[in-house]
Amino acid sequence: ASTLGASAAQSGRYFGTAVASGRLGDSAYTTLLDREFNQVTPENEMKIDATEPQRGQFSYGNADRIVQHAASHGIKVRGHTLAWHSQQPGWMQSLSGSTLRSAILNHVTQVATHFRGQVTWWDVVNEAYADGSSGARRDSNLQRTGNDWIEAAFRAADAADPNALLCYNDYNIDNWNDAKTQAVYRMVQDFKSRGVPIDCVGLQSHFTGGSNYPSNYRTTLSSFAALGVDVHITELDIRNAPTSAYSSVVNDCLAVSRCKVITVWGIRDSDSWRSGESPLLFDGSGNKKAAYNAVLTALNNG
Ligand code: G3I
Repeated sequence: ASTLGASAAQSGRYFGTAVASGRLGDSAYTTLLDREFNQVTPENEMKIDATEPQRGQFSYGNADRIVQHAASHGIKVRGHTLAWHSQQPGWMQSLSGSTLRSAILNHVTQVATHFRGQVTWWDVVNEAYADGSSGARRDSNLQRTGNDWIEAAFRAADAADPNALLCYNDYNIDNWNDAKTQAVYRMVQDFKSRGVPIDCVGLQSHFTGGSNYPSNYRTTLSSFAALGVDVHITELDIRNAPTSAYSSVVNDCLAVSRCKVITVWGIRDSDSWRSGESPLLFDGSGNKKAAYNAVLTALNNG
């Protein structure tokens, strides 16, 4: 097939991109979006500060615009993200304890309910583990409400939208030998053993050159999959977009039957949060880069 989405669809997979609602009026952008991708993740529009800027007052306009654009082009939506220590509105940052606990669970319930039936996958919880060798949870106001806050968020999302696929999403869980990877693995294993509703794990996969793209990435993907969850590559970008690293990531996903989604974190280099690093598949003028061709070839050969 001749596009990323259609090539991924040959094996029942999705190839997506982060999108920004503010760019939906740019026809060069939407031309690439609608032609190449069969999945989108709102880059900022479903975050807590965007959807509940004042406590109990919800704001869905920009997110709805993305959802509607996607629906009218047959594109699936990944919701990002219901619970996160970052991008919290000021009112939430100032809460703690049982008040915060109620507020975050109400947030999960309200937002998942609003988008019920329109969001295929939710990043229910984002980035809850610490970097480094501790294997511990990240300290945050949410973590300080009790160690079970993550499963409470998953249960709330499941109650609000029983058909959505519920994912845990994090960065630096790519290397199978890292303590952070092992800690997330144990959490998923525990959730599966106790019937906590979790369907998928997202590996953000923001890579610098080839250097933090680990040679055991495929082992990580297949190990999570063996727990009975799908695995998704959710925010892929690679400094300077080396063709070899991009094709290896795609080949690693294709080698794991439960690796169902690859999402790049933006369309053109100029759209990227790392725009100085040329990490994406299209240049600032919307031209296909060598990495695009490498990815397309890998998808078609898989
Ligand atoms: O929209 C405002 C604009 O009105 C204002 O003038 C401008 C001035 O700073 O800020 C704009 O908001 C920025 C927004 O991006 C849209 O460009 C925020 O300040 C900025 O913080 C925000 O950054 C986003 C970041 O998450 C926030 O944490 C990036 O776009 C987004 O790519 C990035 O994505 C995260 C994932 O959600 C989670 N994983 C890591 C990834 C990269 O950091």
